[in-house]
Amino acid sequence: RPLDVLVVGSANADLVTVVERHPAPGETVLGSDLTVHPGGKGANQAVAAARLGARAGLLARVGDDAHGRLLAASLADAGVDTGPVLTGGAPTGVALIAVDGRGDNTIVVSPGANGRLTPADVVDARAVLASAAVVSLQLEIPSASVAAAVRTAVAAGTRVVLNPSPPAPLPPDVLAACDPLVVNEHEARALLRSPTGGAPATGSADAADPAEPADAAGRAEALRRRGPRSVVVTLGAAGALVCGPQGTEHVPAPAVEAVDATGAGDAFTGALAWRLALGEDLASAVRFAVRVGAASVTRPGAQTSYPAADALP
Ligand code: RIB
Ligand code: NA
Repeated sequence: RPLDVLVVGSANADLVTVVERHPAPGETVLGSDLTVHPGGKGANQAVAAARLGARAGLLARVGDDAHGRLLAASLADAGVDTGPVLTGGAPTGVALIAVDGRGDNTIVVSPGANGRLTPADVVDARAVLASAAVVSLQLEIPSASVAAAVRTAVAAGTRVVLNPSPPAPLPPDVLAACDPLVVNEHEARALLRSPTGGAPATGSADAADPAEPADAAGRAEALRRRGPRSVVVTLGAAGALVCGPQGTEHVPAPAVEAVDATGAGDAFTGALAWRLALGEDLASAVRFAVRVGAASVTRPGAQTSYPAADALP
């Protein structure tokens, strides 16, 4: 396989300011001087994987503008194959990010060109999709394009990793292809609450899905009953849960000093996708990926904070 991981997803310029606390609706707060970083969940995953040593490519769409060039430079610097990156149609996506004193963030994304990555663009790239061992996706591009990529990958025997962020309903066949579905606790709850957040339940025990399970392991298992082959729930500083046919396992993360958690989930998922592409089992791949996520929170920004393999805790 020429590529370990093909990421199909978004590329954004991250406009970041540090705040003492996040504003409530209707409230104004002052933040620090603005910084502009290369981001977007798709580009982040590709950079994370490539910086660790993966042969990673990105299928995305950016604008013909300064933000697009910022992203191209970051991707090239990490060694991402940008052959499939398309240009034009709208300005590069922008993420407005506020980071508070504890390193926690809020993010508003204006998709721009990401919203113009069409199913036809994905089908045009089917040869590269088929050439990768793993395809990794998020939901900052149109859902029809995500579905087209997943279906193309399944037809080609390419493994699918999907982080449904921001959360949105997924067609049953798309959900069923995920191996794993990677969610944080917020995304897990959102998908479980949405009646269309997965395949309609068929088993009687599942039919009503009456109450949300009380703990993260219960939520992981409930999500897996919606169809994915496996589910990984990221727990921030507490590590991650791996939920597969053999049951659910907790993987702790190394303790680190948190500066900025922006893109930590993307670093985790990019690293995970790479280790799976190398043929590692899911639990081992998650044990590696939590170290990559932890390293990323110790430095500001998303792509700018991603570690090389020799710099892991
Ligand atoms: O997951 C973090 C990313 O979300 C940021 O880089 C931002 O661009 C948004 O896509
Ligand atoms: Na970071």
